[in-house]
Amino acid sequence: MTLQERDKKHLWHPLKQHQTHPESLAIVKAKGCLLTDENNNEYIDAISSWYTCMFGHCNEFITNRVYEQMQTLDQIMFSDFTHKPAVELSENLIKILPENQNRIFFNDNGSTAVEAGIKMALQYYFNLDEKRSTFIAFEDGFHGDTFGAMSVSGLSVYNGPFEDFLMEVKRISVPNGENHQKILIELEKIISENKVAGFIYEPLVQGAAGMKIHNSEGLNEILKFLKIKNILTIADEVMTGFGKTGRNFASDFIDTKPDIICLSKALTAGLVPMAITSCTEKIYEAFLSNEMAKGFFHCHTYSANPIACAAANAAIALLQTDEIQDNIKNISASHKEFQKRISKHSKVKTARFQGIIFALDLDTKMSRYGSLRDKLLKFFMDRGVFLRPLGNTIYIQPPYVISEKQLQKVYKTIEESLEIV
Ligand SMILES: Cc1ncc(COP(=O)(O)O)c(C=O)c1O
Repeated sequence: MTLQERDKKHLWHPLKQHQTHPESLAIVKAKGCLLTDENNNEYIDAISSWYTCMFGHCNEFITNRVYEQMQTLDQIMFSDFTHKPAVELSENLIKILPENQNRIFFNDNGSTAVEAGIKMALQYYFNLDEKRSTFIAFEDGFHGDTFGAMSVSGLSVYNGPFEDFLMEVKRISVPNGENHQKILIELEKIISENKVAGFIYEPLVQGAAGMKIHNSEGLNEILKFLKIKNILTIADEVMTGFGKTGRNFASDFIDTKPDIICLSKALTAGLVPMAITSCTEKIYEAFLSNEMAKGFFHCHTYSANPIACAAANAAIALLQTDEIQDNIKNISASHKEFQKRISKHSKVKTARFQGIIFALDLDTKMSRYGSLRDKLLKFFMDRGVFLRPLGNTIYIQPPYVISEKQLQKVYKTIEESLEIV
């Protein structure tokens, strides 16, 4: 029996309707930008396995560091203990994060990084004897699958069945360069009618919404306004972090810095799950007290796992090399050329890019998990390219180590796919 057949017996996959889509492709090996399936077919991983493996799969610099760590210290509780990989990671992150960030809190994945950010904001005000319960979020944002993260997300396919159990959230439009005055008026109204604890946003690029890029000056106006109103801001950089937008963090493009930042995915370069919620010293200080209960009682068993920290330290070291920084610039320059070319195609409504993130919207109606999407996915896979359309958006987020030849193959495959749309 093949792995694909054995899989069907006991496994339950995420984001899948098993009745209509029973098959899952078995991948047996991944190296650099290439995935190999159990029939020995190869695919270029053009979305870096959900934007994680930015330095290529099984990158030896990272796996060697992790192997060393595995032989030294595997796991230790992070409540009451500390260790070198975590201490080093906090130092490495503080050096590259926006200058107002000073505290590093560990989580397991993007959703729990957001969950901790939401709880930090709520408890910050609670500790100051202010009860605040409402959040503000962008329409169509995606922040994860735990209850707080689902509450602030705007995509109903993920959170629809749980609507009755979600937190109070007010949604605002994303800034488009023309509407920020209108948004500020809307914010004023929301703030006057609700006890708002925080605003959560994906800075510059909304990933799951279809790699939608919004206006950085408009976002800055919103953040400035909220700061004056004493409302905490939470940047969800789970997707955008670690170089994807062309700078280390999307927040680097925006003058007003967030109070809290959520990180995951590329943090550990796809090797092991880990996430981080960073914050300012001011937030941390609100949890200092002689009262035990004012501390942050949020913890995951594998918090700051030493092996995951070692992977993250290695990934940050690679990110800062000239080679990777040049690759990011080169991929971005290639995207620019492709954007020029593909924008003219009659089947393309718009094409955009930010750093290494490229996206085009097809000029057609296409449901998120409908038949055209399945047809396109198959078309890409049959040609050895792994791309995963989001609604009518086809996007690319290649590993930073993709070769020009591989990247051109991805572009060509997308161009050819437009014939079947
Ligand atoms: C912006 C953003 N936040 C949070 C998450 C949730 O991360 P995870 O799937 O690791 O829970 C995602 C996942 O795609 C994301 O793109």
